[in-house]
Amino acid sequence: MPKKRVAVLVGSLRKEAFTRRLATALRSLQPDSLELELVEIGALPLYNQDLETDSPPPAWTEYRTRLAAADAILFVTPEYNRGMPAAVKNAIDVGSRPYGKGAINGKPCAVASSSPGALGGFGANHQVRQCVVFLDMPMMQMPELYVGQVDKVVDASGKPANDATRELFQQFLLAFAGWIERNAKRA
Ligand code: FNR
Repeated sequence: MPKKRVAVLVGSLRKEAFTRRLATALRSLQPDSLELELVEIGALPLYNQDLETDSPPPAWTEYRTRLAAADAILFVTPEYNRGMPAAVKNAIDVGSRPYGKGAINGKPCAVASSSPGALGGFGANHQVRQCVVFLDMPMMQMPELYVGQVDKVVDASGKPANDATRELFQQFLLAFAGWIERNAKRA
């Protein structure tokens, strides 16, 4: 069976982001049935409906093409002020348009949030969950993945720092693979 392609959207734009480490860890543990591919969101112009013409910004078009080629979306996000960073919201907004033709719409998805703090980005995680409802994107309910102390449980090279973390990530990914199979986008 062909692998399911998962577009991984990383919500931090800084070079040394713990969130990117987390995405690297998840990619390194992907099950055989999945192909996790990073799709960069940092250069997307802020969503502006005036730019939604026959020739929208090339960065939007490239991004939308990559989303369209994916079977599923994995949001990997830090938390800013108990919510998702603007970059993640913008990625959702750009992916959701033009109206009725959004490349992201309807794709099964999951969210992993992280923080050096204890709460693991709970607020950001649930803001993503709220937004995707409107886009008819089946969001994996369980297992949830809130990675607290991300700077300690994922090392600088993007490896889980201990067995419990590795197993947690593997279980999340296996569940997501099943979720994608069961919720493939309707044609
Ligand atoms: C933060 N940080 C943060 N952490 C948290 O757990 N809850 C929060 O609400 C916030 N709010 C917040 C706002 C802003 C504007 C910044 C810049 C930071 C701290 C944040 O978790 C920390 O900087 C992480 O290192 C950011 O993730 P990356 O960039 O390492 O992936």
